[in-house]
Amino acid sequence: MTGTVPAVRPARPFFSSGPCAKRPGWTPEALKNACLGRSHRSKPGKAKLKEAIDRTRAVLRVPDDYRIGIVAGSDTGAVEMALWSLLGPRPIDVLAWESFGEDWVTDVAKQLRLKDTRIIKAAYGELPDLTQIDPARDLVFLWNGTTSGVRVPDGDWIPENREGLTICDATSAAFAMDLAWPKLDVVTFSWQKVLGGEGAHGMLVLSPRAVQRLESYTPPWPMPKTFRVTKDGKLVEGIFEGDTINTPSMLAVEDYLDALRWAEGIGGLPALIARADANLAALAAWVKRTDWADFLARDPKTRSNTSVCLKIVDPWFAALGKDAQAAAAAKIANILEKEGVALDIGGYRAAPPGLRIWCGATVETADIEALTPWLDWAFAQVKNG
Ligand SMILES: Cc1ncc(COP(=O)(O)O)c(C=O)c1O
Repeated sequence: MTGTVPAVRPARPFFSSGPCAKRPGWTPEALKNACLGRSHRSKPGKAKLKEAIDRTRAVLRVPDDYRIGIVAGSDTGAVEMALWSLLGPRPIDVLAWESFGEDWVTDVAKQLRLKDTRIIKAAYGELPDLTQIDPARDLVFLWNGTTSGVRVPDGDWIPENREGLTICDATSAAFAMDLAWPKLDVVTFSWQKVLGGEGAHGMLVLSPRAVQRLESYTPPWPMPKTFRVTKDGKLVEGIFEGDTINTPSMLAVEDYLDALRWAEGIGGLPALIARADANLAALAAWVKRTDWADFLARDPKTRSNTSVCLKIVDPWFAALGKDAQAAAAAKIANILEKEGVALDIGGYRAAPPGLRIWCGATVETADIEALTPWLDWAFAQVKNG
């Protein structure tokens, strides 16, 4: 631990967990070909939306028989569209190990009031017991828990011959982790996470089994227009070809296209995953040699390579009360923000006090490496008053 001000600053201090850092080299010039001032249903407008769907399929290697739609309300909109449209006919398991999982518990149990719901929970830093899931039930879960930095290690725990549907919020996982497509019936994500796009729209990916459910089941509750993906019992296919339900931001679409082109240019999904893994490895090397910080995720197999959450394990910190701990952790983040070294790295408010450092593909490993001495410096400042 050091009181010396580090010599090197991260070239880009952007480590927020959403909206995340823009891709390296991004300038507003990337938006110059946006289809602005025109109808999104015009020929060029629709072509942009279709291109966003097609490039998403190519980069994420989404199976040909899965539908991909652009929807309103970012990832939340996409998840809630799926919950409201699909749930009801079967009992449900919901996994929750941090705050966004808890949000979906609220939707399923308190808003939709689906009685036959099992909530399988774990504390921050842990993953729930995945062997408890029942393949006869629908399953709602996150691939990566953004506020605890705990992810599922793979899709092997989801049975091949399940009867229920799997609904996966993958917003902080898509483009950084291998999603087990054959095990997933609904996958959602937004543009503002791993690819550093603009916040606006959600992506809703549906397996053939999910479509079959949509076409064979009509929920008993009212369905807002922005959630309606079927008409007269048939899927509205146009939504999955760029005919969005309501008006999208064509500026955000152009930005997403720029991010997708960048992703393709560096080598697609394997390159994106490798960049996030390298960032995690750089932080892990520092955690290993530091004595005051550790991963919140206890099991290394479950450690996120995007939203990396750190807890503070120094005895001085452990002896503080809960509020003083939260204040000290916030102080570390604030000092670094003031120095212009790291922006938005405070832990999530509902998580145990600590730091959260985004390691997704748009972050450069050199910047993570440059950040680590600053973490030591800021901690020393706070500890020594
Ligand atoms: C796992 C998870 N789900 C949902 C959301 C909400 O996303 P959005 O604001 O894009 O709707 C977030 C945002 O951080 C998230 O991390």
